[in-house]
Amino acid sequence: MTEPRSRRRRSAAPARRSLPPGPRLPALVQTLMWAAAPVRFGQSCLRRYGPLFTARILGFGEVVYVCEPDGIRRILRDDAGSFGAAAANEPIEFVVGRHSLLTSDGARHASRRKELMPPLHGDNVAAYVEVMVSIVEQEIRRWPAGRTVRLLDCFQRVTLEVMIRAVFGITDSSRLDRLRVLVPRLLALNPLLILLPALRRSFGGFGPWAAFQRLLSEVDGIVYAEIADRRAAGPAADGRDVLSILLARQGEPVSDEELRDHLVTLLAVGQETTATQLAWFFERALRAPGALGRISGADPKVLDAAIHEAIRTRPATLDVGRIATRPWRHGGWEFPAGTMFAVSLGLLHLSADLHPRPEVYSIGRFYPAGPPSAHFLPFGGGTHRCLGASLAMVEMRTIISAVLRHVRLELVRTAPEAVAPKGPMLVPRRGAEAVVAENRLREGRG
Ligand code: HEM
Repeated sequence: MTEPRSRRRRSAAPARRSLPPGPRLPALVQTLMWAAAPVRFGQSCLRRYGPLFTARILGFGEVVYVCEPDGIRRILRDDAGSFGAAAANEPIEFVVGRHSLLTSDGARHASRRKELMPPLHGDNVAAYVEVMVSIVEQEIRRWPAGRTVRLLDCFQRVTLEVMIRAVFGITDSSRLDRLRVLVPRLLALNPLLILLPALRRSFGGFGPWAAFQRLLSEVDGIVYAEIADRRAAGPAADGRDVLSILLARQGEPVSDEELRDHLVTLLAVGQETTATQLAWFFERALRAPGALGRISGADPKVLDAAIHEAIRTRPATLDVGRIATRPWRHGGWEFPAGTMFAVSLGLLHLSADLHPRPEVYSIGRFYPAGPPSAHFLPFGGGTHRCLGASLAMVEMRTIISAVLRHVRLELVRTAPEAVAPKGPMLVPRRGAEAVVAENRLREGRG
């Protein structure tokens, strides 16, 4: 869309070597504003400085935000070879490991992606639906009519269960019980450990790092025990879960460490994102008159339009990181190798140039035509595009449909819930509260 103009500019005028302008406030102040309200901070910079601006964030240094379709498409896809995701994700390597998709690029990344693709795609994902339905129905049975529920907490339980039972294929009840307790604690990781590597020291067995290490080694212990049991049992002919498929594949065997990194990565990126988007879905749709009735109808395209609109208006995360591995020219600037970029899919989706009245949640926006693929990228794009996108869509459709089939929800209050940062997630401040006006499943009528 902006391509012809920026192309002309790239070849005509000499590029400027400094970084695009941004707030001049001290880095500490910018960091606090960014940490407290990232969407508001990003939108106010965007209004003031345009879709390429530089923020200074403690722990990251100067970060160039890219919020326009041309730049985003170039970084994620066309010029992806000039950018590293691994270097940008290095601060979380101590959680996801060095074999993770998030911490690899180039040929190694491509071959790992090929390994992980089959269990997360097509027919295989469809095979998870039955267990998803039973998991969400089990959760719904816990909701008494007349009570207020925090949907975010409920969906956290559901998506965790889908991950460990359906995607990982764990059946041992003591392992499942421990993971139900440990994974939420693992994901509530103190963000300072990510931002400030100096804190990653054990102070005589005390402090956040030591506590985190204990937690991680217990989770790892369970994961390694599961891998050992599955190896010992031999290939499961009909196993549809990630471990069964990776262990049964031909060719070079996958090491235990690599399997562990894949599973912990899926936990880190696949569970909370889906739970948070589900919570935002109900927070938004409950406040749009008539929306839930329309979604409950027979047309599946309406449900997809409603899900996409929830992700557009209330993204669970705002941006993805990249570091330039060689100089890169864009928008009249020449960025040196080593520049850190925040590719802001969230701010792109909230752009008034692309979506009239962008703050309004409207199912009609993406119905019936579907969202515009050129500039609506809820799952990113290019080599690191979300590997769980089809699983996430199937999971959200299945869970929402089950809730709408069995339960009538009502608002606790009409005012929208504020966007609150929780670790890397942007969650509804009250956890997407809703009153269970009717629960047909509990009453035996579902
Ligand atoms: C609504 C839910 C979800 C959203 C909005 C979402 C979004 C994203 C985005 C934007 C990326 C791109 C990161 C980048 O370019 O650096 C990504 C990567 C990834 N996602 Fe998702 N995701 C969701 C659910 C899931 C689920 C359920 C899984 C798996 C079970 C998953 C697995 C992954 C993996 C493995 C990557 C890394 C891909 C790579 O680096 O090659 N995601 N996700």
